[in-house]
Amino acid sequence: MTASLAGVLGNPRRNAYAASKAALISLTRSLGCEWAARGIRVNAIAPAMCAPDESPHSRPRARADLAAVRRRIPMGRLARADEMASAIRFLASDKARYVTGAILGVDGGWLSFNQPGEAHPAVDGVPADELVRPAADATPRVIAITGAAGGIGAEIAERFASQGDRVALIDRDPSVVARAAALGGKGWTCDVSDEAAVSVTFAAIREALGPVDVLVNNAAIADTFKPAAEQTSADLDRVMEVNLTGPFLCARAAIPQMRPGRGVIVNLGSIAGLAPMAPRHAYGASKAGVDILTRCLAAELGPQGLRTATVAPGYIRTPGVAALEEGGHIDARTIRARIPMGDLGRPRDIAEAIVFLASPAASYVNGTLLSVDGGWHAFGSAGVASQQD
Ligand SMILES: NC(=O)c1ccc[n+]([C@@H]2O[C@H](COP(=O)([O-])OP(=O)(O)OC[C@H]3O[C@@H](n4cnc5c(N)ncnc54)[C@H](O)[C@@H]3O)[C@@H](O)[C@H]2O)c1
Repeated sequence: MTASLAGVLGNPRRNAYAASKAALISLTRSLGCEWAARGIRVNAIAPAMCAPDESPHSRPRARADLAAVRRRIPMGRLARADEMASAIRFLASDKARYVTGAILGVDGGWLSFNQPGEAHPAVDGVPADELVRPAADATPRVIAITGAAGGIGAEIAERFASQGDRVALIDRDPSVVARAAALGGKGWTCDVSDEAAVSVTFAAIREALGPVDVLVNNAAIADTFKPAAEQTSADLDRVMEVNLTGPFLCARAAIPQMRPGRGVIVNLGSIAGLAPMAPRHAYGASKAGVDILTRCLAAELGPQGLRTATVAPGYIRTPGVAALEEGGHIDARTIRARIPMGDLGRPRDIAEAIVFLASPAASYVNGTLLSVDGGWHAFGSAGVASQQD
């Protein structure tokens, strides 16, 4: 579905158009759940304004104050139609096999700007990359990935390395050094919540591999699963330090190395950050915080030519999730019944979403959250989610 930001935000004097686009968003969620059992995925993109062309459909856009629109967008330009096509192409591909009922904003950061004033300084004329896609840059990128010793992080590292990128892997677990070497990259043992260690590590990455182009903030810890009344402030603090302060510290260290048009930060959120999962308040709050961190950075860094995004996984079959099951913390049968697609996702599903978001194919995606959850977040009905057809 090609929806629109108009279906998400208020649009004075565009009542019918905006309502029709809100309806598409709703339909995407409902059909995504209803048809998941048949193996049919349903997703939408929500574009901001595309640059007008010669077609009759473009006329209202050509009449708009395009200079004012550009000042409202952190990236400072309108979208090109090919940027919508490449987002749709990803969603329609097998790489998005665990994405359904999702709404992908392709808006240059429009939704992430919420303060008074202009999102981008005024620009003279029409920015060049609004007219034509910049030539592909074939030089290998440096991809820094935290929490890459195992689970989803290890898969993300493999996926980037397999396409020729140079991986800089970071983990508190020293086995990350050997894992990185096996992928032709380099590893660093570092706790992402340790401010001094993060600074030293990112300086060392620059020295060894060159400036960081892409940062994937993947490291996180689970919470204690204790009821609120039994939790200590130390339990809460540690989750926030690793899951929220850690990504901030790594972003702060990576940003000065990033170059316009190449720099991307992808943060790992969670379905637990979008809607509550009692009693996981610390974990859920940290992941909700990650989404706002992504969006603040999108608004701030858009004018510098850097992009950000969040990937929000549903339940993914990792060794960590298996351990939660063995510890009696989760019950996989109940979980599968709550997932419209009827099964947990694979680490590869998350890696593919991140590789897409970090690529030029996502050049107008900024500040957006992409759910990769088999339809979990879209489902709002009763009964078994995987049997709604
Ligand atoms: N697995 C899921 O079902 C699921 C669901 C939603 C979100 N996520 C998110 O995806 C990401 C990866 O999840 P996973 O299941 O692969 O986790 P995992 O526990 O298997 O791996 C996390 C990695 O981070 C490392 N790490 C933990 N604390 C660290 C610290 N302070 N400094 C450096 N490294 C540290 C660990 O050593 C480990 O290698 C996390 O952000 C998680 O919250 C996972």
